[in-house]
Amino acid sequence: MTKGWTKSDWRAKPRTQMPDYADQAALNAVEAQLAKYPPLVFAGEARKLKKQLALAAEGKAFLLQGGDCAESFAEFSADNIRDTLRVMLQMAVVLTYGAKVPVIKVGRMAGQFAKPRSAPTEVINGVELPSYKGDIINGFDATIEARMPDPQRMLQAYTQAAASLNLLRAFSTGGFADIHRVHSWTLGFAEHDKAERYRELSNRISDALDFMNAAGVNADTAHTLSTVDFYTSHEALLLEYEEALCRIDSITGLPVAGSGHMIWIGDRTRQPDGAHVEFCRGVQNPIGLKCGPSTTAEDLKVLMAKLNPTNEAGRLTLIARFGAGKVGEHLPRLIKTVQEEGANVVWSCDPMHGNTIKSSTGYKTRPFDSVLREVREFFAIHKAEGTIPGGVHFEMTGKDVTECTGGLRAVTDEDLSDRYHTACDPRLNASQSLELAFLVAEELTALRQTDRRIAL
Ligand code: PEP
Ligand code: CO
Repeated sequence: MTKGWTKSDWRAKPRTQMPDYADQAALNAVEAQLAKYPPLVFAGEARKLKKQLALAAEGKAFLLQGGDCAESFAEFSADNIRDTLRVMLQMAVVLTYGAKVPVIKVGRMAGQFAKPRSAPTEVINGVELPSYKGDIINGFDATIEARMPDPQRMLQAYTQAAASLNLLRAFSTGGFADIHRVHSWTLGFAEHDKAERYRELSNRISDALDFMNAAGVNADTAHTLSTVDFYTSHEALLLEYEEALCRIDSITGLPVAGSGHMIWIGDRTRQPDGAHVEFCRGVQNPIGLKCGPSTTAEDLKVLMAKLNPTNEAGRLTLIARFGAGKVGEHLPRLIKTVQEEGANVVWSCDPMHGNTIKSSTGYKTRPFDSVLREVREFFAIHKAEGTIPGGVHFEMTGKDVTECTGGLRAVTDEDLSDRYHTACDPRLNASQSLELAFLVAEELTALRQTDRRIAL
């Protein structure tokens, strides 16, 4: 598939959004060190994820991808990892019930450290500084020293990713993920007096679990009720890091990114002849491709041919992020392109990145209603086109932050300053994330009912 490709070929291509390191020798030393370290994930896991995504392309599974906009060194703790995982597991149960297919759980975790920025510099308190590019590249503090790119940060990111993955793997199989436990947390959410709408669905899930239990299907008899597969993903922005962790899969003899199970190409780095596409085309992992309003049919054709020349199912996930009110203008034309090419893709919806606004109190925020509206438009268009909505992609956290407005607990512009903790974009908090899962589940249920009518 990638004959003649090498993991360093991207270096000869135009690059955007990547740092210029001042000390080349220090950079080389870090790369050499990372190249000797174990990969964070194993090729067989990436292959397994790809098989599951192949099912999502056919509507036989559904992708839930979520986590921080940018993971940070300062916020790194067991509690944060546990809380994000907990909400994602709750969301997955609700979505499984709505979709009646397995939900593939992929965290923006254990590697989501590098950020593209809209401008190379930003003005803070009247001083112009290089933009913060994520903890793997430079520091968040508003000083010129902190903002200098430092290659040593890659080693800290690797260590944090390894420790995060270790905990995620332990939580996934050690009892934390037991479906009854996960659902009991959701029952707590549904007790909120404004959550009436979600109580019925959550009671139905309780009934289904009680029925299975009575029929002898429980955590003791079926390990799938007490363990989950949880995958990691991040934007493959910092290619020195990605190259250093690239390995050869001993089974297939092909290169694989060892930095995470799935990697994606951002909306700002998807130039068909650019460095990021060049790197990603050569590794065997599932690849995500962000598609924004500026994605042209021409580019998409070339990108699909480069990133998935054999049209392998599950290899390519197109992550649509247009903004509420703009999906109708852009999604149909890209669906048409995919159909004309006969390309096999998973369609996922990122309702976050097209819906960022500045609040009246000066914070960068996203209204819950815009997020929901984009998701609904995504489902409606797939329904109209007869194509398959295969997943959703959220920036979210398990903590009770106040970064996005709205939701049943009604975060207002004035509330944003209370717990605005993100290092980058505003995230849905635990309650907003779960509420959204219920609303997506309603969409999935409606879709199944239409499908059934068509089948009859
Ligand atoms: C992101 O997912 O954090 C991101 C920067 O998205 P996009 O490339 O779609 O703007
Ligand atoms: Co973001």
